[in-house]
Amino acid sequence: MKIAIIGGGYVGLVSAACFAEFGVEVCVAETDPARLDRLLAGEMPIYEPGLDALVASNRAAGRLSFTGALAEAIAGVEAVFIAVGTPSRRGGGHADLTYVFAAAEQVLKALDHPVVLVTKSTVPVGTGRKLAALAARLRPDLAVEIASNPEFLREGSAIGDFMRPDRVVVGAETERARAVLRALYRPLNLIETPVLMTGLETAELIKYAANAYLAMKVTFINEMADLCEAVGADVHDVSRGMGLDGRIGRKFLHPGPGFGGSCFPKDTLALARIAQDARAPSRLTEAVVAVNEARKAGLGRRIIDFALAAGPAGEDLRGRRIAVLGLAFKPETDDMRDSPAIPAIEALAETGAVIAAYDPAAMSAAKPLLPGSVVYAESALQAIEGADLLVVMTEWNEFRALAPARLAQAMAGRVIVDLRNIFDPAAMRAAGFVYHGVGRGQ
Ligand code: UGA
Repeated sequence: MKIAIIGGGYVGLVSAACFAEFGVEVCVAETDPARLDRLLAGEMPIYEPGLDALVASNRAAGRLSFTGALAEAIAGVEAVFIAVGTPSRRGGGHADLTYVFAAAEQVLKALDHPVVLVTKSTVPVGTGRKLAALAARLRPDLAVEIASNPEFLREGSAIGDFMRPDRVVVGAETERARAVLRALYRPLNLIETPVLMTGLETAELIKYAANAYLAMKVTFINEMADLCEAVGADVHDVSRGMGLDGRIGRKFLHPGPGFGGSCFPKDTLALARIAQDARAPSRLTEAVVAVNEARKAGLGRRIIDFALAAGPAGEDLRGRRIAVLGLAFKPETDDMRDSPAIPAIEALAETGAVIAAYDPAAMSAAKPLLPGSVVYAESALQAIEGADLLVVMTEWNEFRALAPARLAQAMAGRVIVDLRNIFDPAAMRAAGFVYHGVGRGQ
């Protein structure tokens, strides 16, 4: 089988490489010449573990190719996947569908045979129906069928998530569309992956509902962490005690600085707007958006208060060295979108402190987004050297491996704010640190 994927961004590229690995012949159409050049040169425009090798081996096997010419990409294909960006529209939070409709229109105009046109980008409920109307209007001569096939990939583990998903969701209302999508995912039959066949609107809503629910879990445990600090409880045990109930589940109950990234913030906001527009408001989703934004906005103040409380009374942070480990919104990615580190570092820099920042993958993505005064270290240890305060923003394994004695040796001060609870509080306190985790009954 042969398919085309429109958009060589995160979702497009991962899906293309993985479908090719399944044995499908995939051609990716990318309109940005700079990105296309990089792809043709074998460079990955995004950081995703294992992606470069998967792309290289499937290109070598002749199953995966890149082109700037749409007509070339869609020649003889059975399905065309649209995997272009759907950023938040300014002022309001609705997803911006300009790129999706522009891509669909170009495909429809260029087609010379019927295909299944599939949205992989996260699109508002009702988009599939609009695409069907567009197809009927632009190409009444061809039987173009529309399907929705949302992705549930996590950055940093996208390939594993694609190859071993919990489920595949397909919104398709014709036998042919269902058969084409079923055939594409056939290799997953071997691992008994459930393939859920639904209508278009249902598939579109499943994607938003799943992301909003996970974002709600994270936000809930973040609030419980604050409560734990106030009443002297330990949020790890609260998470465990809740999560062992099979109805709740243990995943996504790790407290932290608030969720970020390209999906949860955008999708929770979009779902809140979709629900308002449909006159069936989701007050829970609205609350998740507001609570998370407030958490990220208050992060800098929280860190400053810890630092001041630990230092000699009345002193400020001017000239103090603050090491910040982790800049992207989570480990194993260079994605800085909506990263909690941005507002936190802005607030810390305003105190006149010297910020020494380090991230194993996101340094070049971070630089344009952070205050000019930030100093960039070449390693975690270099950032920590001589620091008065250490702030841990993400849970990279190399940060977890920093031993208390090594930290004590390198740092000038003795305060640690661990926003991901990667360190053992007792070990840190034994090494002489004033240690603040999240929700660990200070
Ligand atoms: C998320 C979903 O997990 C994917 O299923 C979905 O496909 C994707 O969005 C998308 O819509 O494209 P991702 O944004 O890569 O994936 O990251 P997650 O690992 O889900 O983390 C999201 C945020 O929640 C991060 O800021 C992370 O640090 C935070 N988080 C997650 C916590 O603070 N605690 C947790 O227990 C889990």
